[in-house]
Amino acid sequence: MKALILAGGAGTRLRPITYTRAKQLVPVANRPILFYGIDSMVAAGITDIGVIVGDTAAEVREALGDGSGFGASITYLPQDAPLGLAHCVLIARDFLGDDDFVMYLGDNLLEQDLGAFVDAFETAQGGADPPVAQILLKQVPDPHRFGIAELDGDGHVVSLVEKPQDPPSDLALVGVYLFDPTIHEAVRAIAPSERGELEITDAIQWLIDAGHRVRTELLTGWWIDTGKLTPLLEANRLLLEKIEPRIDGKVDDESTIDGRVVVEEGAEVVGSTVRGPAVIGAGARVIDSFVGPFSAIGPDCQIVGSEIEHSVVMEGSQVLHIPRLGDSLIGRETVISRSRRRPASLRLMIGDHCQVDVE
Ligand code: TTP
Repeated sequence: MKALILAGGAGTRLRPITYTRAKQLVPVANRPILFYGIDSMVAAGITDIGVIVGDTAAEVREALGDGSGFGASITYLPQDAPLGLAHCVLIARDFLGDDDFVMYLGDNLLEQDLGAFVDAFETAQGGADPPVAQILLKQVPDPHRFGIAELDGDGHVVSLVEKPQDPPSDLALVGVYLFDPTIHEAVRAIAPSERGELEITDAIQWLIDAGHRVRTELLTGWWIDTGKLTPLLEANRLLLEKIEPRIDGKVDDESTIDGRVVVEEGAEVVGSTVRGPAVIGAGARVIDSFVGPFSAIGPDCQIVGSEIEHSVVMEGSQVLHIPRLGDSLIGRETVISRSRRRPASLRLMIGDHCQVDVE
C-alpha cells in the first residue's frame, strides 16, 4: 500500500495567507497541517508516500525533506496546474504502479487513525465481491456544502453528488480515499468538469457505473477540511485540546499558567497570564499580556500588553498593545501595533510581512 498526499492546489479560500505560503503548511497548534497527515499515514504502516506539489513545491520540499524525519520515504510529484484531484492520480501513475493506495487531501485533518480503515479495505478485498475503492463518509448537518454519497440498502455507493441542492443523504465525502489500480482506468476515461477540473467524484462514479464495487466506512471522530479560516481555527482548537502540558521555557513569578499549556524551550512569559489550551512557541516572548484559550503563538513572536484568544499567530509576528485580538489568523513576520491607548477589538486574517497600526 502506498500513499498519495495532495499538497498542490490554489488555496484561494485562504488568501491572503496563501499568496506567500502553502496552505498545507499553515500551523495548527504550532505544527503544519500537512505533518499530521504524514504522521497518520506512517501510523497506519504506509511509508512509501508520493506528495503532489504545485506552485509552493519548494516550501513543501523544505518542510518535509526526504521524509526520513517522519519515518517515511517521500517522492515529490510536480503538478503544473491544479487541474483536479483525479488529475493528481493521473500524473502519479508511474509512482503508484500497480499498488493499492490511500489518497489523502493535504489540508484535511482527521481525529481517527487510518489503520482500521486500511485493514477493513484489505479484508474486504479478500472476500466475495471485492471492492476496487473505499471512501470515508461523515454525517454532516449541512450536506449542501459537501460532496455527498447516496447509498443502497447494503451500504454500497450508488451515486456521488457535489454540493447538492436536494441532498440524497447527509453523508459527506471525507478527503481520504482508498483505491486499487482500477482507478487509473477511471481517471483516463473521465472528462473535465464545468470548472475545468478532473473530479475524483466523477472517477468514482465511473467505477460504480462500470459495475465495480465501492465500499464505504463511516467516520465517527471529527474531520476538518481546513481550507478556510473558520475550520482552520476550529482545527487549532481541537488539536490544542489534546496537547500534553509542558513548560520548557521561562515563566516569571508575576505570571500565571492555567490549564493545558505548552511553553516551548527559549520562550519567556513575563507578568502575564496564559490560560490553556494554548501553546507558546520556541523563542516567543509574552509580556504583560493575557493569552487565552485556543491560542497558538508561533516561534519568535512577541506579544506585549495585549489580549489574545482563539487565534493562530505565525512565527516572528508581533502583537503590541492590542486590547483584544480574537478569532484571528496572523501570518509570519507581521506587526500589529497600536499607538494610542484607546480600546479596540480586532478580528483579522492577514498575510505574511504585514504591518497594521491601529489608531
Ligand atoms: P481543494 O481545497 O479542493 O482546492 P484548492 O487547494 O485549489 O483550494 P481553493 O478551492 O481554496 O482554491 O484541494 C484539496 C487538496 O488537494 C489541497 O491540499 C490541495 C490539493 N490539490 C492538489 O494538489 N491538486 C489539485 O489539482 C487540486 C484541485 C487540489
